[in-house]
Amino acid sequence: MKKPGFYLLLLTLVVAISSCGTKTEKVTESFINENVKFAAAQYGMQVAAIEDSGRILNPKTLINGKIRYIRPQEWTSGFFPGSMWYLYELTGDARWKELGVKYSEALDTIQYLTSHHDVGFMIGSSYGNGLRLAGTEAYKGVIIQAAKSLCTRFRPGAGIIQSWNVGGWQAERGWECPVIIDNMMNLELLMWAAKKSGDTRFSEIAINHADQTHLRHFRSDGSAYHIVDYNPRSGKIFGYYAGQGASADSPWARGQSWGLYGFTMMYRETKKPAYLARAKQLADFLINHKNLPSDGIPYWDYGAAEIPYAPRDSSAAAIMANALLELSTFVQPEQAVLYQQTAIRQLLTLSSPAYLAEIGDNGNFLLKHGVGNLPGNSEIDVPLNYGDYYFLEGLLRFKRSGL
Ligand code: GLY
Repeated sequence: MKKPGFYLLLLTLVVAISSCGTKTEKVTESFINENVKFAAAQYGMQVAAIEDSGRILNPKTLINGKIRYIRPQEWTSGFFPGSMWYLYELTGDARWKELGVKYSEALDTIQYLTSHHDVGFMIGSSYGNGLRLAGTEAYKGVIIQAAKSLCTRFRPGAGIIQSWNVGGWQAERGWECPVIIDNMMNLELLMWAAKKSGDTRFSEIAINHADQTHLRHFRSDGSAYHIVDYNPRSGKIFGYYAGQGASADSPWARGQSWGLYGFTMMYRETKKPAYLARAKQLADFLINHKNLPSDGIPYWDYGAAEIPYAPRDSSAAAIMANALLELSTFVQPEQAVLYQQTAIRQLLTLSSPAYLAEIGDNGNFLLKHGVGNLPGNSEIDVPLNYGDYYFLEGLLRFKRSGL
């Protein structure tokens, strides 16, 4: 798929960046075009296989050579339709719009989902992008209903949105109100709903949650805990837990990326200086971390004991690159250049043969080497639909920024 000159161009770009901190638009445009062409061809095959089955399926990952399709209730169900929308935006091809509509509308019932916090991810990536790109009026109602569902999980005594219910394994651990750093990502849906409906309750809840997360979910070095368990009545913290990280005190890579993206997004939406300060502190912690490899792709946990042999997490890199690109628009020029260069390095590495699949390979997903839940022995060194979604978002942001 890629022309032989492509990697030479990338190399030229990397050298240009590392030697003088600048890049030419011409090279960048070709980088984006090549990657978009590849993504459209690869996802074209992914969709063709699904359409041929005569069913509506939602691919998440590839396990032992077999694509794992998920139910609409699974937290990642919005990303595949979301990728259709991003491909529409990147290519202008109306076929992707039709697919975006079809696979988003297959998530129709999710607007009523109240059993976990991820409704923000699910509806935001699918219907949220649909509303933005197709302007379908009815999608506004879906977004507002989904925001109402998410707000049922707000615990006013603690000022936070409860991430998970506490049946099963959570109950065995004695948790009452677990909140995960990932939850910051669901707040964008509430901010949109407030704007679309004029009901400020949505944004008030989002801001309450972000305020509490800012104050209580971070270590003194600027990194985020994965899970904090609260007393939902008083807000007292019962404990900090590892979740998908190496230990309660270790910075789980994707969680850091969610936190960085979430606080950057909440700063964009509110202009509250505390959120900007939080995002900058976290960005600086990650960029300067001794265990962040020079190619910009984090190990699955910055404190993983098996570094340098630990698996990398391409999804954490894709999310982080987007956050850094946006954060760079809110900071002083010198810091902006550092954030942009890190993001560019991450996107370049992700689009190199080390991380980007060969056409027709990798279950027709884009990125290789993602890690879902290493301590849970689940989805290790595999493609992940959210890695692909944020990779495409990165191409879009890159394209818009003209970097
Ligand atoms: N929100 C779950 C994850 O990032 O794996």
